[in-house]
Amino acid sequence: MIRKLSLLTCAAMAVFSLSTAQAEDVISDFMKAHHKAPEGTDPTCKKAANGAASDAELAELLKGYQAICAATPPKGEKDAWVKKCQELVAAVKGLQEKKEGAADAYKKAVNCKGCHSEFKAD
Ligand code: HEC
Repeated sequence: MIRKLSLLTCAAMAVFSLSTAQAEDVISDFMKAHHKAPEGTDPTCKKAANGAASDAELAELLKGYQAICAATPPKGEKDAWVKKCQELVAAVKGLQEKKEGAADAYKKAVNCKGCHSEFKAD
């Protein structure tokens, strides 16, 4: 009986956290997971730019960019945001297909400051 109760509590908490998750957290969480790595390790974006990301990492990046594309940034025009995210999606696809110049296209698309000044609230 106790076990059943704690299972129920877990399920209720999961539903609660899902329903209260803000759309903006999608972007923040992605940034923390793939654009900024803990001290001493390379973030996924850096590995991708150096051609050192594994297939699994590229797949994760692609999924992430598609997810933030659908989210709304705290600042800026949604249309321009979608366009920027789609450039990133296209650049990662280029990396997956090992296209010539794909790393350079990705480096250009993943311009931190350029995107933050337009879409990130201070
Ligand atoms: C496509 C646009 C875009 C690009 C490119 C981008 N960012 Fe971001 N980043 C954002 C937005 C928008 C936010 C604000 C999210 C929010 O506050 O909801 C953000 C937030 C962040 C945060 C704060 C996360 C938090 O909430 O604690 C970090 C750290 C970050 N970005 C790192 C980077 C780094 C490093 C790069 C370059 C390698 C980068 N970002 C490239 C759009 C971008």
